[in-house]
Amino acid sequence: MISENKIDAAISQLFSTLKFSETPANLYDPLRYMISIGGKRIRPKLCLTTYSLYKDTFDETVLQPAAGLEIFHSFTLIHDDIMDRSPLRRGVPTVWTKWGEDGAILSGDVMCIDSYKRMAKAPAGVLEKVLDLFSTTASEVCDGQQLDMDFEKVKEVSMADYMKMIGLKTGVLIACSAKMGALIAGASEDICDALYNYGYSLGLAFQVADDYLDAFGDEKVFGKPIGGDIINQKKCWLTTRALEKADDQTKASLLSALEMKAETEEEKGEKISIVRNFYTSLRVDEDAKYEILRLNEEAMEHAAKVCRGVRLETLRRFADKLVGRTK
Ligand code: IPE
Ligand code: IPE
Ligand code: MG
Ligand code: MG
Ligand code: MG
Repeated sequence: MISENKIDAAISQLFSTLKFSETPANLYDPLRYMISIGGKRIRPKLCLTTYSLYKDTFDETVLQPAAGLEIFHSFTLIHDDIMDRSPLRRGVPTVWTKWGEDGAILSGDVMCIDSYKRMAKAPAGVLEKVLDLFSTTASEVCDGQQLDMDFEKVKEVSMADYMKMIGLKTGVLIACSAKMGALIAGASEDICDALYNYGYSLGLAFQVADDYLDAFGDEKVFGKPIGGDIINQKKCWLTTRALEKADDQTKASLLSALEMKAETEEEKGEKISIVRNFYTSLRVDEDAKYEILRLNEEAMEHAAKVCRGVRLETLRRFADKLVGRTK
């Protein structure tokens, strides 16, 4: 096994030494910008963590795919911020607000390609499986992002449809990261599948936490604008649960609050505060915290099918950190 400190050190070393083309600057500067502003890097960390359960040292055959996971994720964020019209990411201006939408689209594209180059460094014996896993995941993320946007246009979605959407936009990449480390380490199919399921449940918990923080987080810590989901009429976990829980009269008033026009800063502030009041009076903020813990436990049940002792404890620590996040 490899200790958590060594994993963190490997991640810092990896991202401080990545090299990208210098020119054309307007194509590669956004890429360098996204990597230099950091982020939590949970996907490469998860990949190196599951790898570390079965191996004692890192080499390029796992470090490069791990970097690829983060670069792919950062690409989805650049495009997501265009789609969500978001001005702030990781506490700094988004790529599309700095370089324009066209630049953000193309830089995102080149990052997606870069991530495939890094996946191709996986060991020859598992290369086909790694590429299959990654390509399937990448297209599922697009499915999820499309559903997320489609849902903006409808009044209400069922909790099952919401869960399916977040499983695609967020769950599968975290699941893929967990499975990839084990796959590259040569773990059995049973282990790889159980770790995929562990990552998937964790990914769901992670997105419910993201939705909660979008409404109730601290912008300085979260690094993204608070209330963006409310303004964009997103079917986030809080809205979905609130509509499910409210009586007919409350539901009608909440639906009209969710459709309030919010163009000026004043209108936006008012809409966010009204919708947030519905959330707290219906206590869906508390329900969200409970759901995050439930999904965390579900993740641990998957992990416990194939891991015990220090391996299981390592996966528990990883899950607990994710779930207790404020950013
Ligand atoms: C943001 O992902 C998008 C979601 C899936 C919620 P992260 O919260 O992992 O973003 P960074 O990489 O740490 O900025
Ligand atoms: C993003 O979901 C998921 C992907 C980027 C694939 P969100 O739209 O909730 O992510 P944030 O809140 O902007 O990070
Ligand atoms: Mg989005
Ligand atoms: Mg977004
Ligand atoms: Mg969000």
